[in-house]
Amino acid sequence: MTVVPLPPAEASRCKRLKASTHREHDSVDQLVVAARPFESRERYARFLQVQYQFHGSLVGLYQDEQLNRQLPGLHGLSRFAAVQQDMQDLLLQQPPLPTRVRVSPAQALGWLYCCEGSNLGAAFLFKWAQHLGLDGTCGARHLAAHPQGRALHWQAFVAGVDELSLTQLQETEAIDGAIAAFDAYRSHLHNVFDARH
Ligand code: HEM
Repeated sequence: MTVVPLPPAEASRCKRLKASTHREHDSVDQLVVAARPFESRERYARFLQVQYQFHGSLVGLYQDEQLNRQLPGLHGLSRFAAVQQDMQDLLLQQPPLPTRVRVSPAQALGWLYCCEGSNLGAAFLFKWAQHLGLDGTCGARHLAAHPQGRALHWQAFVAGVDELSLTQLQETEAIDGAIAAFDAYRSHLHNVFDARH
């Protein structure tokens, strides 16, 4: 097992979030690979179900007024509409809208960190999706890079989150939120893939 040293308290908030969720990330990353979502369109359809559940559950956070005051433009970052569009492209029926995550504003920052960060790893997923004949105009819209580019887009988000002033309790809540978000993603993966191997 790799032991990741925690960064000093003065490290930026997102660096602390990264260090605190390193293990969760690796576990989710390995589970996604093990689920072989890019082996066929049938398996990719299941992966879209996972994305639908996860991104759909966060819509309320992306639309939240207070969070949008803290992170201007947040409402435009949700990828749920793109996931829905991807499902339509592939003529997949959409399940009922997922239950929205209800958490404190500080926990929400952790959930958003997890969701926005997933767009970095999506660079790989996007390439794999292209082997299935899918791209940013059909079936894999939600995995496509932001027009600004993934790195710039991520840096802007990180800068916004790092600048916020939080109490010590809220810092802990943000980390708890990020861990809960990875846990939630893991359960969506299990629910969708394990149930029907
Ligand atoms: C096969 C699946 C995945 C792969 C291969 C992958 C790979 C990566 C890679 C390479 C990075 C670092 C990119 C960089 O620093 O430029 C990254 C970052 C990140 N990924 Fe993943 N990822 C995967 C799935 C996920 C999922 C499902 C989530 C969330 C539900 C997630 C959340 C994050 C977060 C939050 C970061 C940002 C870490 C930071 O720099 O603070 N990833 N991922």
